[in-house]
Amino acid sequence: MNLRAILCALVLALACGRPESPGGPKSAGSGAGSSGSASMAKLMKDRNLSEADVTAALKTYTPSGRKDEFLVFASGGHSGQLLVIGVPSMRILKYVAVFTPEPWQGYGVGDKGSAEVLKEGSRHGKPITWGDMHHPALSETKGEYDGEFVFVNDKANPRIAVINLKDFVTEQIVESKLIEADHGGAFVTPNTEYVIETSQYAAPLGGAYADLKEYNEKYRGAMTFWHFDRAKRRIIPDESFAIEFPPYMQDLADSGKLTSDGWAFCNSINTERATGGVLEGNPPLESGASQNDMDYLHVVNWRKAAEVAKTKAKVIAGMRVIPLQVAIDEGLLFFVPEPKSPHGLDVTPDGEDLVVGGKLDTHATVFNFKKIQGLIAAKKFEAKDPYGVPILPFAESIRGQVELGLGPLHTAFDGDGNAYTSLFIETKVAKWNVKDLKLIEKISTQYNIGHLVAAEGDTVAPKGKYLIAMNKWALDRFNPVGPLLPQNFQLIDLSGDANGGKMQVLYDLPIGLGEPHNAQMIRADKIKPWNIYKPVGLDAVTKEKSPFAVEGGKERVERKGNVVDVYMTAIRSHFTPDVVRVKEGDKVRIHLTNLEQAHDATHGFALNSYNINASLEPGKHTELEFTADRAGVFPMYCTEFCSALHLEMAGYFLVEPKKK
Ligand code: CUA
Repeated sequence: MNLRAILCALVLALACGRPESPGGPKSAGSGAGSSGSASMAKLMKDRNLSEADVTAALKTYTPSGRKDEFLVFASGGHSGQLLVIGVPSMRILKYVAVFTPEPWQGYGVGDKGSAEVLKEGSRHGKPITWGDMHHPALSETKGEYDGEFVFVNDKANPRIAVINLKDFVTEQIVESKLIEADHGGAFVTPNTEYVIETSQYAAPLGGAYADLKEYNEKYRGAMTFWHFDRAKRRIIPDESFAIEFPPYMQDLADSGKLTSDGWAFCNSINTERATGGVLEGNPPLESGASQNDMDYLHVVNWRKAAEVAKTKAKVIAGMRVIPLQVAIDEGLLFFVPEPKSPHGLDVTPDGEDLVVGGKLDTHATVFNFKKIQGLIAAKKFEAKDPYGVPILPFAESIRGQVELGLGPLHTAFDGDGNAYTSLFIETKVAKWNVKDLKLIEKISTQYNIGHLVAAEGDTVAPKGKYLIAMNKWALDRFNPVGPLLPQNFQLIDLSGDANGGKMQVLYDLPIGLGEPHNAQMIRADKIKPWNIYKPVGLDAVTKEKSPFAVEGGKERVERKGNVVDVYMTAIRSHFTPDVVRVKEGDKVRIHLTNLEQAHDATHGFALNSYNINASLEPGKHTELEFTADRAGVFPMYCTEFCSALHLEMAGYFLVEPKKK
């Protein structure tokens, strides 16, 4: 579309109103086409907008009240929280509290349910107040997103969290005591039987100590398969297992699908087994780890491993672990050489091929699952690694390579047989055809793109249309905010409309949380969240009516010894009771139910100076437990502007001093 056509279309839309936008403003004062066109031209001139800018605006602008077509679940990086972003508008819709306290959701600030979830995520009993969230994984059914759950990993404190998309609440965190860092997670198998978590930095399994001199003998990696029970909405650690790996740095992982269902894959770097130690006369880790031309793609038969784990695993730190030798003997683990210090590993939508980004190699290498299976079946191994893992011949395992440019990392797919690979060093996205391995075009991003996500691009049925480049640098993109800059999510149009069939950057979304990593993009109509909690008194973590739910008219205060139970309700615009009297040193349990059933009628409950703020969505029940260890007069009030009498939705919590 040229500029004139865009303007005409815009003017026409303004003149005619928007039939698809009931309730929206009709003709916004532009009468004849010519005057609208003239004012558009002036607006473009005044705001210094090019034709491409206006095209981008038309493709992303989302009028008030209009919903987005896709939702992105993006890592919130160090915040330990999960971002929900609408596409194409790039509006941030929510920060979901996961690994760290989040005050607005009342997560970890007094509420007992979320405190217990966060406690599950403590590390060897030590509370962890940050995360390094990397890779969200939406639950899948038959290889397609089903919109029910999302799983995320924390690289720094190896953990996996389960978030229920009925209410976007984190219901469970599992801590891996087996490994000391993860990276290849979270990735789900095609029916979400397992959530994969693969170690990154090798260490003695189970948290044992061994000096780096014993690295080759005592340090190990592992791939963990956390079993997810959908009916129970939980990961079941006792039904999970892991496979011991040699002490390479295992990197990104993916599960097979369709043809390759039942198998999982991960990359590795540092097959040199460098340990660093620059002051001890060793090469720095980064150069020690970059000596070999090839590292090893790990090929894992998880379906068979799940059977082997029943009889031949040994329990380490509470996890059933298939020892490396058993994995070799049972044919669960094979290596294929891969060039060189690779990073991303992405299985194609048909499950036939595995695309590995070279990072220090200019190619994406396309491994073929059937070729790999043929070599395994024929026992055609070219060598063994130092631990005895059979190595398949590289040349016979690949379908080919495509030269893309500098620093290929991650690959996403559209529904038309195209792949999109991020080029970190070149700071571009390369579009190429998977079938004939031909580079089609490249588009520049700003800057240093890491992950990228396409609409449902890692499922069996990618939707194409949009791609988001997740960029690490943003030096000249936004207003300066000090030396620590936001990072930049760039929306890229894949449709080729209005840009001669080529990709176009449409929008820059600054992300004020570092460092967001990966994301997944799902069709918004697949997510069917609750509007309210029903029946009244539902517990957000258990998804059951709380045994302590309070009915209107049955509010009360009960004392047993020094334990005070306060059965309280909230409804516009009061708490009942609104005056609570306790004694210094009492153990207080506030059982608090929001009686509202109106959509969005959320109240908050703050108890001043006691570090308590609950979020009470309609119908929700929350439990607040604390010791009244400071005497005094403490206002308690509603922290959501819920009504005209919101400020009056308050009361007093009186703590009578102990008699001296
Ligand atoms: Cu309830 Cu403000």
